[in-house]
Amino acid sequence: MIKACIFDLDGVIVDTAHYHFLAWKRLANELGVEFTKDDNERLKGVSRMRSMEIIMELGDVKLSPHEKEQLANKKNTWFVDYVERMAPEEIFPGVKGLIRELKNRGIKIGLASSSKNAKTVLQILHIQNDFDAIVDGTMVTHSKPDPEIFLLAAKKLGVEPFECLVFEDAEAGVEAAIAAGMKCVGIGPVTQLNKADKVLDKTGEFEVEMLTEF
Ligand code: BG6
Ligand code: MG
Repeated sequence: MIKACIFDLDGVIVDTAHYHFLAWKRLANELGVEFTKDDNERLKGVSRMRSMEIIMELGDVKLSPHEKEQLANKKNTWFVDYVERMAPEEIFPGVKGLIRELKNRGIKIGLASSSKNAKTVLQILHIQNDFDAIVDGTMVTHSKPDPEIFLLAAKKLGVEPFECLVFEDAEAGVEAAIAAGMKCVGIGPVTQLNKADKVLDKTGEFEVEMLTEF
């Protein structure tokens, strides 16, 4: 029986995944590296530094650890700039209602985002108090697809991994949820997320009645 729902943030609660893409593309292009939406799929869900390394791999760019750090910081400045101009209404339709209904059914609500900016985004959307537990990129050592982030979220929620249902838009995130022994709803194209137990186009399409499917 599902006792907790754990949400990824970027691309599941709000389209900040697009702001990550814009900022990484800007950085890649500055480095003379071509960067497409397809390339971006590899960056979804993984940490900032791992994303930086993937861009370097794509363009066969060699950088010192210091340069790498500086460029990743630069990308983050652009990302934060986009996010700070975001309106609370940009939260995906139906997400607030879904969280409310899940809570009414006694389901615990967790957040497991690789982003170190997760709390800022939640504050901008005015939903920081809607979660029973929040785990972000500042609290884990291993990036998705490692299960660490989801296992920590389950621990904080006081539930067993098999009692958790994860909502994820990233392939790395779906893999992490499965590796944690959790059930997973993929948000996005089924071609990309076929390892998930169920795939929906949008988070708001999930209905509480669907909990019995898991
Ligand atoms: C994830 C995003 O949620 O957070 C990734 O899917 C992003 O695209 C990662 O790179 C780290 O985010 P941040 O804000 O710490 O750079
Ligand atoms: Mg995501």
